[in-house]
Amino acid sequence: MTIAETVLIIGSGGREHALARAIAMDPQVVAVHVAPGNPGTAQCATNHAVDPLDGAAVALLALQLSADLVVIGPEAPLVAGVADAVRQAGVACFGPSAAAARLEGSKAFAKEVMAAAGVATAASRVCDSPEQVAEALDAFGAPYVVKDDGLAAGKGVVVTDDRAEAVTHAVACGRVVIEEYLDGPEVSVFAITDGHSVRIMQPVQDFKRVGDGDTGPNTGGMGAYTPLPWAPSDLSEFVLNRIVRGTVEEMEARQMPFRGLLYVGLALTSKGVKVVEFNARFGDPETQALLAQLRSPLGQLLYAAATKRLVDFGPLAWADGSAVATVIAARGYPDRPELGMPIELPPDTATAHVLQAGTTLDDAGVLRSSGGRVLSVVGTGDSLKEARQASYDHVARIVFPAGFHRSDIAERAAQGGATPKES
Ligand code: AMP
Ligand code: GLY
Repeated sequence: MTIAETVLIIGSGGREHALARAIAMDPQVVAVHVAPGNPGTAQCATNHAVDPLDGAAVALLALQLSADLVVIGPEAPLVAGVADAVRQAGVACFGPSAAAARLEGSKAFAKEVMAAAGVATAASRVCDSPEQVAEALDAFGAPYVVKDDGLAAGKGVVVTDDRAEAVTHAVACGRVVIEEYLDGPEVSVFAITDGHSVRIMQPVQDFKRVGDGDTGPNTGGMGAYTPLPWAPSDLSEFVLNRIVRGTVEEMEARQMPFRGLLYVGLALTSKGVKVVEFNARFGDPETQALLAQLRSPLGQLLYAAATKRLVDFGPLAWADGSAVATVIAARGYPDRPELGMPIELPPDTATAHVLQAGTTLDDAGVLRSSGGRVLSVVGTGDSLKEARQASYDHVARIVFPAGFHRSDIAERAAQGGATPKES
């Protein structure tokens, strides 16, 4: 097969709905399947029940569906080796091996690879004991940055001026990485790679804190927009040449080629561009905004990466204009989201569509919330201002009294103002 006609996507969030929608628009794709999926993915694909962490079950489903390509959305199946199981079954897979997914699964491993590849990142120390924690906190000073070494769904990082809070988090985590605080705005740049060749995507910005004005606790992400009118125009090229190529080569040299999406989380600091984190998969909700703008056929792009033929795939094509994704979360998120609350969605329009994440259909056919982040509402337009307006106008048409959203996604960038520090 040189084209992917049947694609199976693993996962059930807003990112997977965005992937399914975009892959279904690829003219060469005939069938899109999602497992387990959600009521939103059921509108553009066929859902199948599967435990996404069970590699054997995912591989069997791929064979039963005669899938040409499996795309693994979330990090947990990647870290659990589901991509390895799919490839062992002889099916092309977009998503790194368990060994390569440690770039996300272990902050200490990511730091080691960055050091070997000469990638600029925050200075850091791996700490296993309270004594090491105390020493590292004193060495770097406030604000303190303490990260759980393992996967923590966006909640493993504490950034605080309060030393006692930093110590408490470190003790609760066990093994932690403590690092230098990075100032400056945060940006995400995604790279698609087959382990050797790379296609870099346009920059996108996520809003990680739960509240307007970047207040409150960290979340998985409350909204995103792309492109970034205020960022240097060569930012993606810079990230490709200074960060991604070296990292991909280092992984290849370690015989753990990274085949999938390398998510580069950056801080544009006063001392230059530095990596905040690597992830081993598409970001959520950045993907919801990015894929609204991507014009290259996504099924074939991911298939070329999965089959080590990315070198034959042309440069990525993007729509002019902008996209803004606003997340609607369940009241109480991120601590204790209220679940099971009814939702009514308006039909999509030419400039706005809803992607579902934490949703379920009850026996009566009523759509209800079933997770912390419930919906992402994507607006597009010729300018960031129009895209933002399209997203928020559509948010206003959604009936979900138990939900909330940030009202300032892309606001400062749309006004052409200074860049926000955090988001
Ligand atoms: P991470 O899971 O490593 O992306 O961290 C989550 C969030 O914590 C990031 O998006 C930043 O907002 C913040 N953060 C992480 N590392 C640093 C750092 N070294 N300096 C400042 N903020 C950080
Ligand atoms: N939006 C941040 C992430 O996907 O990790």
